[in-house]
Amino acid sequence: MDRNLALEFVRITEAAALASAKFMGRGDEKAADQAAVDAMRKAFDSVRIDGTVVIGEGERDEAPMLYIGERVGRKTEDSPAIDIALDPLEGTTICATGGVGSISVIAVAERGNFLHAPDTYMDKIACGPAAKGKIDLDATPAENVKRVAAALGKPVEDVTVMILDRPRHADLIQEVRKTGARIHLIGDGDVSASVAAAWPGSGIDLLLGIGGAPEGVISAAAMQCLGGDFQGRLKFRNDDEKARATKMGIKDFNKKYTIDELASGSVMFCATGVTDGPLLKGVKTLPGRQATTHSLVMRSATGTIRTVEAHHHLDRKKV
Ligand code: FBP
Repeated sequence: MDRNLALEFVRITEAAALASAKFMGRGDEKAADQAAVDAMRKAFDSVRIDGTVVIGEGERDEAPMLYIGERVGRKTEDSPAIDIALDPLEGTTICATGGVGSISVIAVAERGNFLHAPDTYMDKIACGPAAKGKIDLDATPAENVKRVAAALGKPVEDVTVMILDRPRHADLIQEVRKTGARIHLIGDGDVSASVAAAWPGSGIDLLLGIGGAPEGVISAAAMQCLGGDFQGRLKFRNDDEKARATKMGIKDFNKKYTIDELASGSVMFCATGVTDGPLLKGVKTLPGRQATTHSLVMRSATGTIRTVEAHHHLDRKKV
């Protein structure tokens, strides 16, 4: 995949972030998400790719735009065939409440390299490069915390685990607390949490718990770029979700997916902050219809991580 595409993809997440940031704190999750979807969909039209959305806003019958299977991009004779995993607004509630860390995100890979995950839950574990190969979703949370502590060469008490603050995680939280490790509970946004687990200096060593399966695939792509590790297992709430999974080619409902089974090959990951977060600054509006954005672009082929700060003149933009 041409490395210069990375910059094209940043334009796409920037467009979605700029659009959804207008709805920050307005209490309207749907409007914020719709603005991000519309802007992202439009921005794809100017990128010379033969793209297929494999992780998107849902299935065709439920999402008019950026649905799973939708072809996006300006296809030319030599445009690359790529699969796209996207979340125009990751953390809709965060954005609607003006909270911390909502982002717009896309991950891309050469065709056939992302798991086609249904919109169900996924049990996840993510860590940084030092503990790669040491974590195991089948081990207990306590065992994983110990392994990460050993890999990082620090006492368990100094390990910090990020977990989504949900009633379903009550036992998990109790078990991690028993080890002596510290916990950072978050309200939403486990893509950022996975990135944090592999981000030098973030203070987060491990992500544990159940979140969205689509976000799991996007997180695995990010971890491929960061050299971290990720495993996931789909968690179904009902038979309908199982039927959808079957339609998407999932045969073993209990399978533990490795990072390579979720996202493989040459992968790119781009994210733009919508609201301020620990990794990315949010969109800032300036006088005279100007705004700034802060984005992250990573490629697994080289492991290069770029941050892009952009100053936009909104009146001069076509998209
Ligand atoms: P949305 O952006 O779709 O609101 O997702 C936010 C999120 O927190 C994800 O990061 C996470 O994977 C998922 O929701 C968890 O789902 P739930 O809120 O149902 O526990």
